[in-house]
Amino acid sequence: MELLKDYIRKYGNVPNDNVLKVDSFLNHQIDTNLMMELAKDFKEHFKDKKITKILTIETSGIAPSVFLGYLLNVPVVFMKKNSSAILDQNFYHTTVHSFTKNIDYDLILSKKYINEDDHVIFIDDFMANGEACLGALRIIKEANAHVSGIGIVIEKSFQNGRKLVEEKGYDIYSQVRIKSLRKETITFVDEK
Ligand code: G4P
Repeated sequence: MELLKDYIRKYGNVPNDNVLKVDSFLNHQIDTNLMMELAKDFKEHFKDKKITKILTIETSGIAPSVFLGYLLNVPVVFMKKNSSAILDQNFYHTTVHSFTKNIDYDLILSKKYINEDDHVIFIDDFMANGEACLGALRIIKEANAHVSGIGIVIEKSFQNGRKLVEEKGYDIYSQVRIKSLRKETITFVDEK
């Protein structure tokens, strides 16, 4: 998505060869005009899919998801990173390992909000190693809901998230795919 590439080129920072900081429009301050354009792009991409719910993860997946949910007129549900409900039978939960942060965390989701009648699009802001996405897929499976699609705003294609998720038989739509990050240079997958 060219607009998103422009934002990344203009406002993105690369503190090291693994991390892209996009705090000024996605991860801290949120550019609402951009969020609407991301949502329109997701809507167009998934236009042939049946969708009853958008599923995301707090915090930064929520903004693009809400705009998409509004355009599709469906609810947005976000999984919480919390361990207090882990023994509560009213919640689905799964443990995710973050290689970026080198921590384990629990994703929880109330059973009230996703069920076997749902056709779910999973949306997230970043895909790095794919662990959050795989956790979300485990929860959707446990709920016996249908996966209608996976939409990622920024995929770091030099990490192996896409590969791991595709190996499970799912397609991923990423709005931009980053081939490499170097101090002065952000290279996208479709560029030299
Ligand atoms: P994975 O799920 O794809 O395996 O990702 P990983 O655990 O490696 O990443 C953990 C957190 O770090 C996630 O945010 C993810 O969005 C974020 N992240 C990974 N790589 C980058 C990057 O290059 N830039 C930025 N800005 N974030 C990155 P989180 O902890 O869930 O944060 P939030 O959604 O609460 O803001």
